[in-house]
Amino acid sequence: MISIRKINFPKLLIFSIVSLSLIKCSVSKSDFVSPLGDIKSPKDNPLDTAKIALGKEFFFDKRLSLDESISCAVCHKPGLAFTDGLKFSDGILGRKSGRNSPTLLNAAFLPKLMFDGEIPTLEMQSIVPIQDHNEMGMDIKELLVRLKAVPEYQAAAKRIFNREMDVWVLSRSLAAYQRSLISDNSPFDKFYYGKKKMAMSASAKRGWTIFSEKLYCTKCHPAPYFTTSRVENIGLYEIYPDNGRFRINNDSTEMGKFKVPTLRNIQITNPYMHDGSYESLSDVIDHYASGGKNHKNKSSIIQPFTLTKKEKNDLIEFLYSLTDMSFM
Ligand code: HEC
Ligand code: HEC
Repeated sequence: MISIRKINFPKLLIFSIVSLSLIKCSVSKSDFVSPLGDIKSPKDNPLDTAKIALGKEFFFDKRLSLDESISCAVCHKPGLAFTDGLKFSDGILGRKSGRNSPTLLNAAFLPKLMFDGEIPTLEMQSIVPIQDHNEMGMDIKELLVRLKAVPEYQAAAKRIFNREMDVWVLSRSLAAYQRSLISDNSPFDKFYYGKKKMAMSASAKRGWTIFSEKLYCTKCHPAPYFTTSRVENIGLYEIYPDNGRFRINNDSTEMGKFKVPTLRNIQITNPYMHDGSYESLSDVIDHYASGGKNHKNKSSIIQPFTLTKKEKNDLIEFLYSLTDMSFM
């Protein structure tokens, strides 16, 4: 059933005690076929275990930030499905990120990254937080001087990439590590794809029917990824403090549009939305039930509805069934 298999990392590279070195390979021992399909890596960055292990080291290394206080993992904590439980994340020198930290699980399958839905690859994305003033605040040239001085990194760069420790090595390894973070083993997966009838409670099964048939949620959050990866305006505000994709292209029809987030592991990725404005799933459901605020770009799919207390509870139980304990 489990399509994820542990990779044996070279001893020297074992860094974190959190056993997250999980990668799903196309060569699977069991006959369970992941609903997510195969991981597609760019041609110039094929996945291999040594590269993933190096990327993991970088991911947990606070030396990647200006004052050596913040690693990627500070804002993307493995135990919280690679989020941080905060409305806005803590960056260097007491600064705050401008948005809520999203999960990195299954980011391998996203055609566009960030809430603006603009950055196309994990390789390109990895440099953004490092240079962001509020997040890691690091000049990339300075960072390379720092990383080149670490003998283990120089040696790994030579061994794995046959080159000096440089931005290529850093971005390729970080991307490879993140591509290995696959989540496809939730009760919903066992029930729906694994045909294990008992994997979900009766309440969660009723909730799935509400989610996928009674309401319109799957129009933007369809299985298996629970996102279309498109950008949408869901009427969160009449006037958005953060204009979303408009920031990228100054196109007023894109104002208030944000990339649809996956709902996998939603139980542990609160607070919700790009600005962490909703603390609970109950609040989120109330938002949709109200039909959202008036905004000229609001998706016409979002319409008011009513649910009984029991139905709302079932819907939340279903959302909980998307939690994959492999990562806890
Ligand atoms: C200070 C907190 C912070 C740090 C440090 C940080 N991130 Fe993030 N990360 C965020 C926030 C906030 C977003 C959402 C930004 C946006 O969409 O505008 C994000 C978005 C992402 C995304 C896009 C995910 C998606 O669904 O589109 C990836 C991938 C990512 N981060 C990887 C990393 C990596 C790799 C590092 C380390 C090099 C890192 N992050 C460091 C807070 C952080
Ligand atoms: C028109 C597309 C669309 C539809 C339909 C839709 N959503 Fe969403 N959903 C989004 C977008 C976009 C966001 C993020 C908005 C933001 O950050 O401002 C979101 C966010 C969420 C979040 C918070 C995710 C997170 O990580 O912060 C939950 C939970 C959620 N939706 C559940 C639902 C449910 C339940 C339904 C059905 C009642 C539904 N959605 C219908 C587009 C949609």
